[in-house]
Amino acid sequence: MATRNTIMSIRLVYYSRALRDMSLQDIQNILSTARENNSDQGICGMLCYESNWFLQALEGERKAVNELFLEIADDVRHDDCVIVSYEHVNECIFPNWHMGYSASSGAVTEMLKSFGLSSFEPEKLTPEQALEFLTTMSQQQQKAA
Ligand SMILES: Cc1cc2nc3c(=O)[nH]c(=O)nc-3n(C[C@H](O)[C@H](O)[C@H](O)COP(=O)(O)O)c2cc1C
Repeated sequence: MATRNTIMSIRLVYYSRALRDMSLQDIQNILSTARENNSDQGICGMLCYESNWFLQALEGERKAVNELFLEIADDVRHDDCVIVSYEHVNECIFPNWHMGYSASSGAVTEMLKSFGLSSFEPEKLTPEQALEFLTTMSQQQQKAA
Protein backbone atom coordinates (compact mmCIF):
# COMPACT_ATOMS: atom_id res chain seq x y z
CA MET A 1 0.00 0.00 0.00
CA ALA A 2 1.28 3.50 -0.82
CA THR A 3 2.58 5.49 2.14
CA ARG A 4 2.46 9.25 2.46
CA ASN A 5 6.07 9.50 1.37
CA THR A 6 5.82 7.25 -1.68
CA ILE A 7 6.63 9.14 -4.85
CA MET A 8 4.17 8.18 -7.54
CA SER A 9 5.92 7.98 -10.87
CA ILE A 10 3.86 7.97 -13.98
CA ARG A 11 4.40 7.77 -17.72
CA LEU A 12 2.12 9.84 -19.91
CA VAL A 13 2.15 9.44 -23.68
CA TYR A 14 0.22 11.80 -25.94
CA TYR A 15 0.12 12.88 -29.55
CA SER A 16 -0.80 16.23 -31.06
CA ARG A 17 -0.91 18.05 -34.37
CA ALA A 18 1.59 20.82 -35.09
CA LEU A 19 -0.24 23.94 -36.22
CA ARG A 20 2.35 24.67 -38.90
CA ASP A 21 5.44 23.06 -40.39
CA MET A 22 8.14 23.00 -37.75
CA SER A 23 11.66 23.96 -38.74
CA LEU A 24 14.69 22.46 -37.05
CA GLN A 25 15.04 25.74 -35.18
CA ASP A 26 11.43 25.49 -33.93
CA ILE A 27 12.13 22.01 -32.61
CA GLN A 28 15.40 23.08 -31.06
CA ASN A 29 13.57 25.87 -29.23
CA ILE A 30 11.08 23.38 -27.80
CA LEU A 31 13.88 21.01 -26.83
CA SER A 32 16.03 23.56 -25.11
CA THR A 33 13.09 24.75 -22.95
CA ALA A 34 12.08 21.15 -22.30
CA ARG A 35 15.55 20.01 -21.31
CA GLU A 36 16.04 22.90 -18.92
CA ASN A 37 12.61 22.68 -17.24
CA ASN A 38 12.40 18.90 -17.21
CA SER A 39 15.78 18.54 -15.61
CA ASP A 40 14.66 20.91 -12.80
CA GLN A 41 11.50 18.83 -12.34
CA GLY A 42 13.16 15.40 -12.62
CA ILE A 43 11.11 14.65 -15.72
CA CYS A 44 12.44 12.42 -18.51
CA GLY A 45 10.96 11.61 -21.85
CA MET A 46 11.09 11.46 -25.58
CA LEU A 47 9.67 13.70 -28.29
CA CYS A 48 9.13 12.61 -31.89
CA TYR A 49 8.15 14.95 -34.69
CA GLU A 50 7.07 13.37 -37.92
CA SER A 51 4.71 14.48 -40.72
CA ASN A 52 3.46 17.41 -38.59
CA TRP A 53 2.57 15.13 -35.69
CA PHE A 54 4.16 15.19 -32.26
CA LEU A 55 4.33 12.06 -30.16
CA GLN A 56 5.76 12.55 -26.70
CA ALA A 57 6.36 10.54 -23.53
CA LEU A 58 6.75 12.27 -20.17
CA GLU A 59 7.96 10.34 -17.14
CA GLY A 60 8.36 11.52 -13.59
CA GLU A 61 6.58 12.42 -10.39
CA ARG A 62 2.82 12.39 -10.96
CA LYS A 63 2.02 15.96 -9.99
CA ALA A 64 4.98 17.37 -11.96
CA VAL A 65 4.04 15.42 -15.09
CA ASN A 66 0.37 16.38 -14.81
CA GLU A 67 1.23 20.05 -14.47
CA LEU A 68 3.68 19.94 -17.35
CA PHE A 69 1.19 18.18 -19.59
CA LEU A 70 -1.45 20.84 -18.91
CA GLU A 71 1.09 23.52 -19.82
CA ILE A 72 2.17 21.71 -22.97
CA ALA A 73 -1.45 21.09 -24.02
CA ASP A 74 -2.02 24.85 -23.84
CA ASP A 75 0.91 25.60 -26.15
CA VAL A 76 -0.16 27.43 -29.32
CA ARG A 77 2.39 25.58 -31.47
CA HIS A 78 0.15 22.52 -31.53
CA ASP A 79 -3.44 21.47 -31.01
CA ASP A 80 -5.66 18.48 -30.34
CA CYS A 81 -3.49 16.82 -27.68
CA VAL A 82 -4.76 13.28 -27.20
CA ILE A 83 -3.56 11.17 -24.26
CA VAL A 84 -2.62 7.70 -25.51
CA SER A 85 -1.68 6.22 -22.14
CA TYR A 86 -1.24 7.24 -18.53
CA GLU A 87 0.24 4.63 -16.22
CA HIS A 88 2.02 4.23 -12.94
CA VAL A 89 5.55 2.95 -13.43
CA ASN A 90 8.26 1.66 -11.12
CA GLU A 91 11.07 2.71 -13.38
CA CYS A 92 11.62 5.11 -16.21
CA ILE A 93 12.25 3.92 -19.75
CA PHE A 94 13.91 7.18 -20.77
CA PRO A 95 16.23 7.89 -17.81
CA ASN A 96 18.98 9.25 -20.04
CA TRP A 97 16.88 11.97 -21.63
CA HIS A 98 15.40 15.00 -19.98
CA MET A 99 13.91 15.17 -23.45
CA GLY A 100 15.18 12.95 -26.25
CA TYR A 101 14.25 13.79 -29.80
CA SER A 102 13.79 11.94 -33.04
CA ALA A 103 12.78 13.04 -36.51
CA SER A 104 12.27 11.14 -39.77
CA SER A 105 14.69 8.35 -40.55
CA GLY A 106 14.82 4.94 -42.20
CA ALA A 107 14.12 3.44 -38.77
CA VAL A 108 10.81 5.31 -38.62
CA THR A 109 9.70 3.88 -41.96
CA GLU A 110 10.70 0.36 -40.86
CA MET A 111 8.81 0.66 -37.59
CA LEU A 112 5.70 1.96 -39.29
CA LYS A 113 5.80 -0.85 -41.82
CA SER A 114 5.93 -3.38 -38.97
CA PHE A 115 2.76 -1.76 -37.59
CA GLY A 116 1.09 -2.00 -41.02
CA LEU A 117 1.24 1.76 -41.60
CA SER A 118 2.65 3.58 -44.61
CA SER A 119 2.77 6.98 -42.92
CA PHE A 120 3.00 8.32 -39.40
CA GLU A 121 -0.53 8.50 -38.03
CA PRO A 122 -0.35 8.34 -34.22
CA GLU A 123 -4.12 8.05 -33.90
CA LYS A 124 -3.81 4.59 -35.48
CA LEU A 125 -1.20 3.38 -32.97
CA THR A 126 -2.22 1.30 -29.96
CA PRO A 127 -0.76 2.48 -26.64
CA GLU A 128 1.75 -0.39 -26.83
CA GLN A 129 2.80 0.54 -30.37
CA ALA A 130 3.16 4.21 -29.43
CA LEU A 131 5.47 3.27 -26.56
CA GLU A 132 7.41 0.81 -28.71
CA PHE A 133 7.86 3.54 -31.31
CA LEU A 134 9.18 6.00 -28.72
CA THR A 135 11.52 3.50 -27.05
CA THR A 136 12.92 2.34 -30.39
CA MET A 137 13.54 5.95 -31.43
CA SER A 138 15.19 6.64 -28.09
CA GLN A 139 17.50 3.62 -28.48
CA GLN A 140 18.43 4.76 -32.00
CA GLN A 141 19.29 8.20 -30.69
CA GLN A 142 21.40 6.81 -27.87
CA LYS A 143 23.34 4.63 -30.30
CA ALA A 144 23.95 7.67 -32.51
CA ALA A 145 24.94 9.93 -29.58
C1 LIG B 1 5.18 19.40 -28.69
C2 LIG B 1 5.68 20.20 -27.51
C3 LIG B 1 6.37 19.54 -26.49
C4 LIG B 1 6.83 20.27 -25.39
N1 LIG B 1 7.51 19.60 -24.40
C5 LIG B 1 7.92 20.29 -23.32
C6 LIG B 1 8.57 19.62 -22.25
O1 LIG B 1 8.80 18.40 -22.25
N2 LIG B 1 8.97 20.39 -21.18
C7 LIG B 1 8.76 21.74 -21.11
O2 LIG B 1 9.14 22.37 -20.13
N3 LIG B 1 8.15 22.39 -22.13
C8 LIG B 1 7.74 21.70 -23.22
N4 LIG B 1 7.11 22.38 -24.23
C9 LIG B 1 6.97 23.84 -24.11
C10 LIG B 1 5.82 24.21 -23.19
O3 LIG B 1 4.60 24.10 -23.89
C11 LIG B 1 5.99 25.63 -22.67
O4 LIG B 1 6.26 26.52 -23.73
C12 LIG B 1 7.13 25.72 -21.69
O5 LIG B 1 6.98 24.75 -20.67
C13 LIG B 1 7.21 27.12 -21.08
O6 LIG B 1 8.38 27.15 -20.32
P1 LIG B 1 8.94 28.54 -19.77
O7 LIG B 1 7.84 29.08 -18.89
O8 LIG B 1 10.18 28.14 -19.00
O9 LIG B 1 9.23 29.39 -20.97
C14 LIG B 1 6.63 21.67 -25.33
C15 LIG B 1 5.94 22.32 -26.37
C16 LIG B 1 5.47 21.60 -27.45
C17 LIG B 1 4.75 22.30 -28.56
